Amino acid sequence: MNKFIIVYASLTGNTEEMAELIAEGIRSAGAAADLKVVDECNAVILKNYDAFILGTYTWGDGELPDEFIDFVEEMEELELKGVLTSVFGSGDTTYRLFCGAVDELEEKLQGWGAMIAQESLKVEFGPTKEEQQLCREFGAKIVARLGAVNENNAGNHI
Ligand SMILES: Cc1cc2nc3c(=O)[nH]c(=O)nc-3n(C[C@H](O)[C@H](O)[C@H](O)COP(=O)(O)O)c2cc1C
Repeated sequence: MNKFIIVYASLTGNTEEMAELIAEGIRSAGAAADLKVVDECNAVILKNYDAFILGTYTWGDGELPDEFIDFVEEMEELELKGVLTSVFGSGDTTYRLFCGAVDELEEKLQGWGAMIAQESLKVEFGPTKEEQQLCREFGAKIVARLGAVNENNAGNHI
């Protein structure tokens, strides 16, 4: 069974709610999903999984929250080339850079050569009923994408 990990930062629970729904989607698609809060783990944990998903709220002026800084530095030490990943998060459209932290994480992952499985999922505050379903689908889609990648080659592990 393919194993996924979702690592997230959430101050008021919106990104956490998305993370739980994405995990639900992964599990309903027949894979395993673990959830971790970013400041409670080291990025080396990613090595134990077939693919990973990062979730974050946005802080300051479109910035990545401080909780993610150490994790990003630790990720730089890993070989993430070809590893399947996706990014999601919650923000607020009244800010200049809506979900800027999601874009920042995605750019870093692209820079390290990771394989972005799908367009990032951005939600304003907590997910609406419709967005809850989008979160589940987001989880299910990365499972399908990993299945397709593994069919084409032996798969790249972290
Ligand atoms: C001081 C502060 C700065 C913020 N800056 C941004 C921002 O630049 N862009 C954005 O989209 N949201 C911004 N937000 C909104 C949060 O990202 C948003 O409330 C989000 O839903 C919080 O997610 P969480 O419940 O997972 O912590 C900011 C919020 C605060 C309190």
